[in-house]
Order: sequence, then C-alpha cells, then structure tokens
Amino acid sequence: MNVLILGSGGREHAFAWKISQSEMCERLYCAPGNGGTHEIATNLNLDLGNFKSIKAAVKNESIDLVIVGPEAPLVEGIVDYFKEDAELEKVRILGPDKLAAQLEGSKDFAKNFMAKYKVPTAQYKTFDSSTYSDACSFLESLKPPYVLKADGLAAGKGVLIIDDLEEAKGELKYMLDGKFGAAGNQVVIEEFLDGIELSVFVLTDGKNYLILPEAKDYKRIGEGDLGLNTGGMGAVSPVPFAGKKFLSKVEERIVKPTIKGFAQEGMDYTGFVFIGLMNIKGEPFVIEYNVRMGDPETEVVFPRIESDLLDLLDRAASNRLAGRSLKVSNETAMTLMLVSGGYPEAYEKGKIIDGLDETEDVMCFHAGTRLEEGSVFSSGGRVLSITSLGESIEECRRKCYAAADTISFEKMNYRRDIGLDLLDWN
Ligand code: AMP
Ligand code: GLY
Repeated sequence: MNVLILGSGGREHAFAWKISQSEMCERLYCAPGNGGTHEIATNLNLDLGNFKSIKAAVKNESIDLVIVGPEAPLVEGIVDYFKEDAELEKVRILGPDKLAAQLEGSKDFAKNFMAKYKVPTAQYKTFDSSTYSDACSFLESLKPPYVLKADGLAAGKGVLIIDDLEEAKGELKYMLDGKFGAAGNQVVIEEFLDGIELSVFVLTDGKNYLILPEAKDYKRIGEGDLGLNTGGMGAVSPVPFAGKKFLSKVEERIVKPTIKGFAQEGMDYTGFVFIGLMNIKGEPFVIEYNVRMGDPETEVVFPRIESDLLDLLDRAASNRLAGRSLKVSNETAMTLMLVSGGYPEAYEKGKIIDGLDETEDVMCFHAGTRLEEGSVFSSGGRVLSITSLGESIEECRRKCYAAADTISFEKMNYRRDIGLDLLDWN
C-alpha cells in the first residue's frame, strides 16, 4: 500500500515512524513533512490548502491511503473534496468530512452536539454582538472563574479564563469586536470545570471504534504550568489518574453516544476523535472535541501501540474496523518537547541542531526541523519531541532529560517538570 501523510509536525513524524514498520507499507510519503520524515519517507513539497495539488500528487504517486494530520484541511473539507471526485474513487482518505470537522471548527456546534447526545460537558450559552447584554446577564448568573471561548479556530488561543466579572465582560466585548477575527463573531460562555485534565483518543470507521491509550499533555510554556499556552510542551501515557473505572465511564457516557451521534447526524466520520476531558472526582466531562490526533500526544500514544497501525487505519478509512482489537504495551511513554527560545512568542529559526546521533534509548520525533546538506536545522517553534518508553515515569524522565542534555541548538528551551506531578500517583 502506498501511503501519504499530510502535515509537518512531530505528530506526522510519529505517524510515519509507526506506519513504516508495517509490512503492508510499500511507499511512504509525507507532505510537506520535515527533517525527520525525510529519513523514512519521501517528502513532497505541497501546500495543504491547495487540494488540487494534493490530488495531482496522489495520482502521480499512485497513493492508496491519505492520512490527514492537522485540522485545517479537514475543516476546509478535504475529505469531501476527495470523496466527491470520481477520479479519486479508489483512493481512501482517513479523516472526518467537513460537517463532522465542525466539532473542532466551531465550539458552538460541538456544544450543541454534546447537548443533543447527552454527552456530559459544562453548562453553556452562545452569544454574538447583538446579544451582548444577555451575555453579561449570563455571566452574572455564573460563579467565577468565567470561561469565554471564541467559536471558531483561533490557533489554540481562543479560550480565556478570567476571575473578575467586570474584566470578563470587557474581554467578551473585545472578542465580539474582533480580537480573534471572525473566530470570535460568536462566543461560547461556559461553566468552569474544576478537575484534572487528560485526553482520550478514539479511532473510528464511523460506526465501530477502538479506544487508543489516553494521555496527559503539558500546555503551558513554563514549569508548574505557568505562562503562555503552547501547542504542547510534553506528554505522558498512560495517565495514572485515569483508572479502569474512569475509562469505562468515558466509554459508556462519552465515546458510545458520540459515535452514535456521528451516524445520526449523517456525518461521514472516519479517523480520530481526540476527546479533551476533565476528571472531576472520578466523573468525566468533555472540554472539547478535536477531529485529529494531538501533538505531542501522538508521540506517546503510538509508541505504546503494538498492533499493526497501518492495517487499522486502512480499515477505519474503508469502514472495516468491525471485530478488530488493539494491542497496547503496559509501558509508560513520555515525550519532551525541545523548543526555540522565545516560543510561543517571537523566536529565531535556522539554528543548527547538534547531538541528534548521540542520544540513547529515545526516539527523536522531528517537529520544526529541516534537512540541508546533511545537517538538521530548526525551522519552527517546537523543534524536537524526545520520546522514551520505560517501566515508570521516573525511568522515562531519566532517559528524556539525558537526551535533552545531549542535543543542543542555540537558545534551546524545554520544561524540566514533565511528568513530575504524576510521580505520586504511580
Ligand atoms: P479548549 O480550547 O476548549 O481545549 O480550551 C483550552 C483549555 O482551557 C483547556 O485545555 C482547559 O485547560 C481550559 N478549559 C476549557 N474549558 C474549560 C472549562 N469549562 N472549565 C475549566 N477549564 C476549561
Ligand atoms: N496538544 C494539543 C493539541 O494537539 O491540540
């Protein structure tokens, strides 16, 4: 089977790494890919917003299966584009259609879906600039802190959590006035959920599903979860506070009604459901749906999967997941993100990366890197995702931080506390 992975992050390198191990994989491509995917796949320099050029590459390279990594092409309707084109009839594409991708593309759409299918989530209401005074009354009826969410995609920055009522009303006005552009034309205001966060991942063919290992990520730039939000600075799987009982509640109360909802809404949903959850005293509540895998969560979830993932992905894309199961390792996986100094604000790129060949017992998934004349250079904010497997979080931490000591590039930064909060749970 010839496979094309769309995307260029650590997530896509982890997809390529796992898929390349499958006996079913003949030729593997990544578009646009990065310095790491270059080693195990053929990188194609494609713009993911240009579906026509992706189609041309798929035909040229006789691709059988397309896997969509990031959300943007899904929200823009790449799956519909492929499925509606008779020339691409034999090509399978793994991802939800445009309607289903609204579960990530619009917070209001996602909350209405959860309400309809009785998926536990925070109480909420949605407002626009014509209902600002109703929104203020709704805020007054809630207890602080106040949670304001821009309805549309806002590069992970569209959620504000504010303690003071007057400040919340002011921020709401800024959002409705265009602080996040059109993404904030509508704002969801919701009840604050006080608990501990984790994510559960599901692979589905629209009807059948497999629950993948869960993960916890570390979103803030600073140690102790302080500072600005990032795409993710590290992750751990399994999550010690997500026991069997909790995960079975997630399956019964959240996964099953969600999958049922896809069919009832007429969604063509194949691929991943990334469920952001709050565990409140052992009870699960959904914070958000994403319609793809997480990054860096993929870098800890896939290394724990022992089954042939390509077989399962291909089955999911062609509605043949019935009766399949997943083999998962009991080992712990941790990933540590090495980032450019300054990220998530302004940072410099083009720094040469040393020491990549000298690391021991870790996997170095590339994120923002490029290969030039045999050397690897940084090309983004998140640069490398260092993953280790071990018996415990302590062991994983030892391996990841030893690798971080070996690798260097100018102004490299990383959090030293990944997994530290979970040690007491082990
Ligand atoms: P989202 O983009 O919806 O994932 O929100 C970003 C982050 O805001 C989440 O990962 C949570 O940490 C936090 N968050 C979102 N909604 C809530 C809520 N209702 N209660 C508490 N925290 C929340
Ligand atoms: N790490 C969070 C995400 O991929 O959205």
